[in-house]
Amino acid sequence: MKIGQVQLTSNLFLSPLAGYTNLPFRLTVREIGGLGFVTTDLVNARSLLESNPVAVRLSATCPEDQPMSVQLFGADPGEMREAARAVRELGAAAVDVNMGCPVPKVCKVGGGSAMMMETKKTAALIRGMADAVDIPVTVKMRLGWDDQNITAPDLARALEDAGAAAVFVHGRTRQQGFSGRVSLEGIRAVARAVRAIPVIGNGDVTTPEAARVMLEETGCAGGSIGRGAFYNPWIFSQTRHYLKTGEMPPEAALEERLAIMGRHLDRMVLFYGEARGCRMFRRVAKMYSRRFGPANLFNRRVSLLRSRAEFDEIVEEFLAWRRRFLNDEGELLPQFQPRPLNASFLAGEGGADAEEPIKVPAGPIETW
Ligand SMILES: Cc1cc2nc3c(=O)[nH]c(=O)nc-3n(C[C@H](O)[C@H](O)[C@H](O)COP(=O)(O)O)c2cc1C
Repeated sequence: MKIGQVQLTSNLFLSPLAGYTNLPFRLTVREIGGLGFVTTDLVNARSLLESNPVAVRLSATCPEDQPMSVQLFGADPGEMREAARAVRELGAAAVDVNMGCPVPKVCKVGGGSAMMMETKKTAALIRGMADAVDIPVTVKMRLGWDDQNITAPDLARALEDAGAAAVFVHGRTRQQGFSGRVSLEGIRAVARAVRAIPVIGNGDVTTPEAARVMLEETGCAGGSIGRGAFYNPWIFSQTRHYLKTGEMPPEAALEERLAIMGRHLDRMVLFYGEARGCRMFRRVAKMYSRRFGPANLFNRRVSLLRSRAEFDEIVEEFLAWRRRFLNDEGELLPQFQPRPLNASFLAGEGGADAEEPIKVPAGPIETW
């Protein structure tokens, strides 16, 4: 599939997750494979124009990270146009716009962003950006304000006319926040509303089967995965394989998981420095360890990780400790196998495995 003129090798996307989708993670998932396109965390357009170090770091990329997009957040058409140019200069293949909720009443009560007040205004903003840069401008939206105000289909169509090259849609309303389940019908309505650009469906995909259902039931050109990618960075390569062959590939072996984790940590250390990189890796490591089977010792020790060398010690100690859960062939005894990941898991219904899930806002959501 293509986004504008950008040719992709896969129709699977990594959704932006503020605080998570940093360059080291993106490169790690790329190394595993199956991923066609990534988007950065949301970046404040004004901060980027002011060369705020946080915004610049969030937008950082490199050739192995391509094709990628920087997601901008902002309401001022002039600023968004300039920020799109800045994103282009930084080497991004596309620029994405975070759309809050596209309903007038949100703005009347003071919520939502000014750019969402009217479809016309939003369309003008997108047109301005599309005219200013030669890279595709994409948008990411929810279904609408609430069940009575499902505005995404009309907005998507208007933005296509204004020059948007693709629409990413999370199949929940602003009112829903992260509660309930994603509406595949809602996403399908968006996919049907546009004329020619790709619509990419998003929400609750944690397994290759869920990705297949998302694509088949919505008619979307691609699927985007957020939280599921952190619990299982192999999900893109597994899903690619499953969509091509109809067969589920075996889960990655523990040795492979540990090797990938080590390289992920190397990248964190390189990008953030050893102290900060290790501190940030603590919660990431615990996401990987959900697929280890028994991992108490690993989790306890990794939650205090301070150096790259210490990580190797932790792994060694963990492997020795873990032997007690193995059979004679060196495989985990059945009662210790990790539980499958599914949407209930994302909803925090995964029992002990769901300790420390990726935090989501409790109530309605204004921006993403
Ligand atoms: C911690 C967290 C941070 C997020 N940050 C962003 C963001 O910066 N921009 C955005 O468009 N969406 C953001 N989202 C929404 C996700 O991109 C995605 O639409 C949502 O999580 C549903 O997909 P999933 O079920 O695959 O996670 C965030 C979600 C979470 C949980």
